[in-house]
Amino acid sequence: MPRHVACVMDGNGRWAAQRSLPRTSGHRAAETTAIDVIEAARAAGVEWLSMYAFSTENWGRPSAEVDYLMRLVRRVVRKHAPLLHARGIRCRFLGVTDPRIPPALARDFADLMTLTGDNRGLTLTVAFDHGGRRDIVEAARSLIRDGVPADGVTEQTFAAHLPFPDTPDVDLVIRTSGEQRISNFMLWQVAYAEWVFPPVLWPDFRAPHFLECLHAYRQRERRFGGVPPHPNGELRS
Ligand code: IPE
Ligand code: IPE
Ligand code: MG
Repeated sequence: MPRHVACVMDGNGRWAAQRSLPRTSGHRAAETTAIDVIEAARAAGVEWLSMYAFSTENWGRPSAEVDYLMRLVRRVVRKHAPLLHARGIRCRFLGVTDPRIPPALARDFADLMTLTGDNRGLTLTVAFDHGGRRDIVEAARSLIRDGVPADGVTEQTFAAHLPFPDTPDVDLVIRTSGEQRISNFMLWQVAYAEWVFPPVLWPDFRAPHFLECLHAYRQRERRFGGVPPHPNGELRS
């Protein structure tokens, strides 16, 4: 079982286009999938689930779409906060540093983090206004501000300066919609992740698809740069 699963929730716009609907309808339909996947992950015993909801690059979309996403996410967070808390889910928001984030939304994020901060079930990290490169640059700045000497900069100290440094490396990334790229997502944490690209648009993705991805992960052989173990434990020639 992967300990940390991360989802790039992609394909909302195409889902809407297939139905001759505005892109916003695709985002609205994404809510059901998100809740389904959170519940499936929790039930399957996944400990960490991260979901990419808005990238630093997504600010470049038309302002009507950006505004819609801000309002939608606020509504979703407020609506599902009691359920997430009741399920023992600890919620975190990765990103949310941009002053363009509506203050009311930033407050709701902070409230949900406080409400669920002591929960010991699944840790749900929502990457909102997230950029992997920005996190890396911020970590470098924070090391310098802390006066860490060059020799003191190791992978461990660097990782300790990333946001939510207790987050384990990602084991499995699921990117829906068939697109096969990183799009600046948790760059540090995905260094050795396995990737699956289900050809399903995010609003059509459901718990059974998620379980298929977990199954695909279990078929993978993770090597971390080593060699596969020989069936008899002998060295290969
Ligand atoms: C993912 O769906 C949601 C966000 C990026 C907010 P898209 O909006 O990227 O959908 P496509 O890729 O255009 O289909
Ligand atoms: C990545 O999807 C961001 C999120 C899913 C929130 P995009 O749809 O924005 O990525 P690109 O533009 O296809 O790389
Ligand atoms: Mg997309």
